[in-house]
Amino acid sequence: MSMETALALVLLATGLLAACDSGTEERDAVASTRTVQRPYLPVPPGVVPRGTAAREAALAAPGPEVTPDLLARGEEQFRAFCTPCHGASGRGDGAIVSRGFPPPPSYHEERLLALAPEQIVQVITHGKGRMFPYADRVLPEDRWAIARYVKDLQARGAGAPPDRGTVRP
Ligand code: HEC
Repeated sequence: MSMETALALVLLATGLLAACDSGTEERDAVASTRTVQRPYLPVPPGVVPRGTAAREAALAAPGPEVTPDLLARGEEQFRAFCTPCHGASGRGDGAIVSRGFPPPPSYHEERLLALAPEQIVQVITHGKGRMFPYADRVLPEDRWAIARYVKDLQARGAGAPPDRGTVRP
């Protein structure tokens, strides 16, 4: 082996090591960026993938048949996801509101009394104005259950007790 060849090999090896090192550093940097900085992406409003016929069908009116079980499920889900803002009676006086969150309109306002159940399903799915979508937390069938429960709440009037007595322990 000539002197030149040996030198070239040493340089080459050093170069490769350096390349490996910097490669490792870059990978680490990328990995740590992913771990630390990956943003939490809420499921976007168009959560129902186009072309997924089953999902779209699940959101299409008239939805599941209204039964006592569906209303009970709706009440349970409404309490879990909606009362913090809308209040148990739907008057827009939930606990979060008393802590400064902008109050939602009362469900007993004329405009909201006129909402069809499928419009409520849409609000749950896509959000509206300052209200976030709940598509990533509430299943389509449960959105219908909640919507039917909201209509039931409205039908009972602003002054009625929120409890239908249908939720089983
Ligand atoms: C974090 C608070 C919050 C939660 C939780 C919440 N909402 Fe709302 N909601 C709002 C606010 C604020 C508005 C008014 C939005 C606007 O017009 O900017 C609103 C508006 C609405 C409206 C009226 C939409 C319209 O046409 O004006 C409906 C219906 C509704 N929400 C249903 C629900 C249901 C059902 C749930 C539970 C799955 C729910 N919301 C959970 C805050 C909330």
